[in-house]
Amino acid sequence: MTRDEALKWVERELEKPNLIKHVLAVEASCRRLAGHFGEDPEYWAMVGLLHDIDYLKTIDDPDRHTRLAAEWLAEKGFDDKFIYAVMSHAERVEPKSKLDWTLFSVDPTTGLVVAAALMHPSKSLAGLDVGFLMKRFKEKRFAAGARRESIAACSNLGLSLEEFLGHVLAAMQGISDDLGL
Ligand SMILES: [Fe+2]
Repeated sequence: MTRDEALKWVERELEKPNLIKHVLAVEASCRRLAGHFGEDPEYWAMVGLLHDIDYLKTIDDPDRHTRLAAEWLAEKGFDDKFIYAVMSHAERVEPKSKLDWTLFSVDPTTGLVVAAALMHPSKSLAGLDVGFLMKRFKEKRFAAGARRESIAACSNLGLSLEEFLGHVLAAMQGISDDLGL
């Protein structure tokens, strides 16, 4: 599947602009971290783009989230490593590989970064830096849905929290037009 085909699939399944922006942010972050680790950027990016593909179809049955995606992805010929990463981000299986841990930690981090941009005086990603994100990270009630333990699990990648936030921020700043921030 090409990136264009995957994006069309995402737009069809996820419909809502905020959901589509979320997966674009995860895609860009996975692409960047793959580059950092010397892995395949387009493969990792595709995992990020498709990780929530079944979100709306499973919204009334959250236990099915990623299980339905796994069926769809297998039908379309995605390999086991790809499907394992998608399932591990919802803790259906234990995250193991660098790809699994990247998706696992990137997913909530994009929410923290969006919330930080919206409360920043600049109302933009361009105005943010890692210091600002670290302060928001430490405020437990700020963007409480962005689970801090899941973000901090970036330690499994051998990255400090500052380094990890720096990568996600830079990746998201690189697509700020798509994100409308
Ligand atoms: Fe997600």
